Amino acid sequence: MSNRSSLQKSLSIGLTLGVTLLWLLGVTASGLVAQHEMNEVFDSALEETAQRILPLAVTDILNRENGPGNQIAPAMKDHDEYLTYLVRDQQGNLLLQSHDADPRVFGTLPREGFSNTSTHRIYGASAVSDTMFIEVAEPLAHRREAALEAGLALLMPLVFLIPISLLGVWWIVRLSLRKVVEFQQSIESRGAGDLTPVAEDRLPKEFEPIAKAVNLLLERLHRALEAERSFTANSAHELRTPLATALAKVQRLQARIQGDQLKTTVTEIEEALQSLSVLSGKLLELAKAEGGGALSQNQQDLVPILAMIVDDFQRQAPGRIILSLPESVVNSFLDPDAFAILMRNLIENALKHGSQTRPVEVSMADDGLLRVRNGSDVVPPDQLALLRNRFARVKTGASGSGLGLAIADAIATGAGMTLHLRSPATGRQDGFEAELNVVTAR
Ligand SMILES: Nc1ncnc2c1ncn2[C@@H]1O[C@H](COP(=O)(O)OP(=O)(O)OP(=O)(O)O)[C@@H](O)[C@H]1O
Ligand SMILES: [Mg+2]
Repeated sequence: MSNRSSLQKSLSIGLTLGVTLLWLLGVTASGLVAQHEMNEVFDSALEETAQRILPLAVTDILNRENGPGNQIAPAMKDHDEYLTYLVRDQQGNLLLQSHDADPRVFGTLPREGFSNTSTHRIYGASAVSDTMFIEVAEPLAHRREAALEAGLALLMPLVFLIPISLLGVWWIVRLSLRKVVEFQQSIESRGAGDLTPVAEDRLPKEFEPIAKAVNLLLERLHRALEAERSFTANSAHELRTPLATALAKVQRLQARIQGDQLKTTVTEIEEALQSLSVLSGKLLELAKAEGGGALSQNQQDLVPILAMIVDDFQRQAPGRIILSLPESVVNSFLDPDAFAILMRNLIENALKHGSQTRPVEVSMADDGLLRVRNGSDVVPPDQLALLRNRFARVKTGASGSGLGLAIADAIATGAGMTLHLRSPATGRQDGFEAELNVVTAR
């Protein structure tokens, strides 16, 4: 996997994080509003309680027979008090208190209205011309607990919301990108020789320009390759014809002249023209090989083509080639013309540079592995490494321009194959071997 980020992953994570963050903000805002509202309700309950108890307490205190002094309001049943109250006079003397009330919670002197201590919310009210005060206290912990519970209730949905939104976003993004992924796969899976336009009609609108650009590029490439092909073919024809004419004329001249010295000169001219003709042919083959077009759009069986090429050579050098062909077809994207040029160069080399007393073995296996082997002196590794270069030759008696292996290598590389050159040949002490797999062409 490359370290590039995936659109699907970043969208899923980004959108989920966004939703979570917004939800948290929403929860905080609603929590604050809820807390404010709850405080108002609690305050009003506190105030209501004080207003309710005050007249009862005042009546109770005024009707006492045993005079002023603190009394604890009796409880009907034993219970914990949530709201506690004190009734005091102006100087803070206790007159009445609820049975759970703790006077330390309240201030030393009674106060009217709402006030806070560190632990309690207190409301005070007065009666009988400000001579009696009631204060009701409510523990703040209770309010905090209520706020906390409300907050938690708002947060709870997040537990489900996060995975659901992650899954939902991931699924929707995946669905929307499906066509793009199909598009990418269709480009990836096509062979390098397939220059037909890619299907752009089912892509999302945003990706349409990419498909259009790809198709435009493919079309230009196709035109350039076609131009290249026709140029090399035309040039080959244009060069070959005058060379052949000149050669024919020289040969006719040679037959007519008498003088020995002149005959030698004309023979030399003939040889020069012949090697020029071979060289021009090789140069054009190299131009074609390097110009691309080593792949065809469809696969073809290369076995009959190989048989035909070897048959051609057999006629020139009878009995020197041992051919072994596969039983099944060997389909390859390698262009048949390019394959023929490649094989001709390899077999020609084996016949030309190999030992004349030893056979040339040409073999193709079912899996497309192709080998051309011949007997020869070992080519030293440092020289072997350079043989694919243009005009590179090992000192040899045979004629040639040093372009054959450069052509073969250019075709192999252009078709995505690897041409292996070995000396000595595999499993031998000497000889030369060229090997490649035509099935790997794409
Ligand atoms: N099958 C082989 N056996 C032994 N030596 C080889 C073989 N093939 C190539 N060589 C060596 O590699 C050199 C380069 O080969 P290449 O085909 O590029 O050029 P060439 O055959 O000399 O000339 P051209 O192919 O242009 O007519 C040859 O000169 C030869 O020395
Ligand atoms: Mg050669």
